[in-house]
Amino acid sequence: MGTMALAIEGRPASRNQAIETIHAALDAGVRYLDTAWSYYLPSRPGTGEPEDMGYGEYLVRDALATWHGPKDEVLVATKTGWLRTLDGQGRYGWQADARPETMIANAKESARRLGVDALDLLYSHCNDPQVPYEDQMGALKQLVDEGVAKAVGISRIDNEDIETAHRILGPSLVAVQNQFSPVHRDPEHTMETCERLGLAFVCWSPLGGFLDPFNEHLFDRFREVAELHGCSYQRVTLAWELAQYGRLFTIPSARNPQEIRDSFQATELTLTKDEIAYLDGAAR
Ligand SMILES: NC(=O)c1ccc[n+]([C@@H]2O[C@H](COP(=O)([O-])OP(=O)(O)OC[C@H]3O[C@@H](n4cnc5c(N)ncnc54)[C@H](OP(=O)(O)O)[C@@H]3O)[C@@H](O)[C@H]2O)c1
Repeated sequence: MGTMALAIEGRPASRNQAIETIHAALDAGVRYLDTAWSYYLPSRPGTGEPEDMGYGEYLVRDALATWHGPKDEVLVATKTGWLRTLDGQGRYGWQADARPETMIANAKESARRLGVDALDLLYSHCNDPQVPYEDQMGALKQLVDEGVAKAVGISRIDNEDIETAHRILGPSLVAVQNQFSPVHRDPEHTMETCERLGLAFVCWSPLGGFLDPFNEHLFDRFREVAELHGCSYQRVTLAWELAQYGRLFTIPSARNPQEIRDSFQATELTLTKDEIAYLDGAAR
């Protein structure tokens, strides 16, 4: 489960509802929670100090602390190297800052916020064009060597970046998190590179996301197949994604318990070969 929609613009007004949503996910069987250092809302123009910083990570920490299930089964992933921004007109945005010193300081802060000695999985959130990627990967390596992160991943990157990261990080690199959905079908085939290197592929915005508008017709065939199965097209979309690659994980957001319960049932929906081929051929 992705927890971004519970922490940034559009998040539920009630923090309790957000916690109930995470509990519903865990109760259903979700064992991967995805957060980031940058899942918060700056309260003043700039990259923004104050009161809201850490909102997303504290939410995950508190949801886990108050859940009565097997906490040690749950993998919590966070990300470093990206900040939120707020401009003078009240619009939120994002800004890379993957200087090694920022990545390292923020990852240590993430561990403190999440209340763990070592992060289960730490991603570099993006490739910051201002910093050589080798240096960004060097920061991740240092964090593994110092025991701040048990394993690392990379996000928003191309095939060349994956090769660079793999060379520098070796076996501590376990996952690539890139956009993948009917809206964005991994045009650079980074999933194939993951398959060749034995890395997990984690799809962000697996339902097309909620921040930017997209062409709803891209889901037309998913709606048709969903009607045959008597379920939501979101569930069919996630099942289609899971069928792409054995080490693929989807991390859908949800803002209420019903949605995440519905999405999780994708793990039990088996699509036929013909259905998958039909969905593969949907308009791009
Ligand atoms: N690495 C990166 O740079 C990056 C970038 C983006 C996202 N992510 C990660 O990916 C995760 C998911 O991406 P996302 O939040 O952009 O969007 P998403 O999962 O593609 O879409 C989520 C939206 O779809 C709706 N939804 C979810 N399940 C549903 C269901 N079963 N039935 C009906 N509607 C459903 C919800 O919207 P409503 O509440 O409006 O119904 C939800 O907010 C994030 O939480 C984050 O962890 C990472």
